[in-house]
Amino acid sequence: MKNILVTGGAGFIGANFVHHMLNKYPDYHIVVYDKLTYAANLNNLADVSDDPRYAFVRGDICDPERVEETIKKYDIDTIVNFAAESHVDRSIMNPDAFIKTDVYGTYVLLEAARKLGLERYHQISTDEVYGHIPAGYSSVETDPVAPRSPYAASKASADLLVHSYFITYNLPVTITRGANNIGPYQYPEKVVPLFVTNALEGKPLPVYGDGRQMRDYQWVGDHCEGIDLVLHQGEMGEVYNVGTGQEIENLRMVEILLDELGASRDLIQFVEDRPGHDRRYSLNVDKLKSLGWQPQHDCEAAIRRTVRWYVENEWWWRPIKEGEFREYYEKQYGSRKVLKTGLDG
Ligand code: NAD
Ligand code: TYD
Repeated sequence: MKNILVTGGAGFIGANFVHHMLNKYPDYHIVVYDKLTYAANLNNLADVSDDPRYAFVRGDICDPERVEETIKKYDIDTIVNFAAESHVDRSIMNPDAFIKTDVYGTYVLLEAARKLGLERYHQISTDEVYGHIPAGYSSVETDPVAPRSPYAASKASADLLVHSYFITYNLPVTITRGANNIGPYQYPEKVVPLFVTNALEGKPLPVYGDGRQMRDYQWVGDHCEGIDLVLHQGEMGEVYNVGTGQEIENLRMVEILLDELGASRDLIQFVEDRPGHDRRYSLNVDKLKSLGWQPQHDCEAAIRRTVRWYVENEWWWRPIKEGEFREYYEKQYGSRKVLKTGLDG
């Protein structure tokens, strides 16, 4: 592994991964291939832009010619595919782009990897492919996929395609399924950056339904370490879950976040629930731990560290909240029914 194509590298996790790899491996070259959708931000990569080991190509993963041309030009041996439409609420409003990018785009990358004989194809997947997980159980990698939102269904479809390329063509593939990531550079449509930045602006925090849904909020750097380990030591054709292995209720996440900010709980506003909202995700991460990986943050530490980053980096998120985001926010929350404000009553 020497020349890695990081698709979707101008987004949240991809950009953190690029930083991680350039810091850790002085001999690797990284080419970011990204369509630059609303979720991308070249500010995420500003501090590596002068690194001679880094290059940026603007392109769509659904465009086979551009993908192949890029692979050839940079002598790519490995693809790590982060490129996706990634937000559940947007997939409910408009699934089209999810099917195109997450399913067809994955197919285009797999075909290019097969045709050009790449050393490795790694797919970034999500715990959401397992669907809602009842209390007392944690998903293992051999569980069947049971997605329940258009986003989760598009990601599960991609996983099945990736697996089929391993079985049918013997393409050297691996898949990681990550829990909810938080940390620097996350577009503020996702719950933690949305709530921190809303609180900093003195705006309400729209908690869906009763706020008792459970998520495993993991530090993005821990996730990147896990991907790195699977890239180097994972077994071909295998899936690896990546998360803290614990999960907390959304309301607890909100309390930690407000506590770290020193902000009032009166900002909490319970609003109409998300349709088909998965109540709980929970990952068993023993398989990755058996390779020697250990997350460095539990959910609480990850939330507190994330809050501090947004407090210290207003330059990064303020302009985002002025742009496309405003229109999205109005559509998503403008006419949403408010059920209750604050924790009392
Ligand atoms: P993101 O939305 O922040 O970034 C996605 C990036 O992909 C953007 O830079 C965007 O421009 C690019 N992109 C979108 N469509 C493209 C296309 N057709 N061609 C090329 N580039 C395109 O997403 P993220 O949160 O960083 O997630 C990255 C990956 O990790 C996704 O595959 C997502 O499903 C997966 N994942 C995310 C989480 C999470 O908590 N955010 C958890 C588990 C897995
Ligand atoms: P999100 O960050 O969208 O990730 P996902 O749905 O992919 O897990 O949401 C995380 C949790 O927070 C999820 O249970 C939905 C909830 N949520 C809210 O309560 N309010 C919001 O405004 C958002 C965006 C999410």
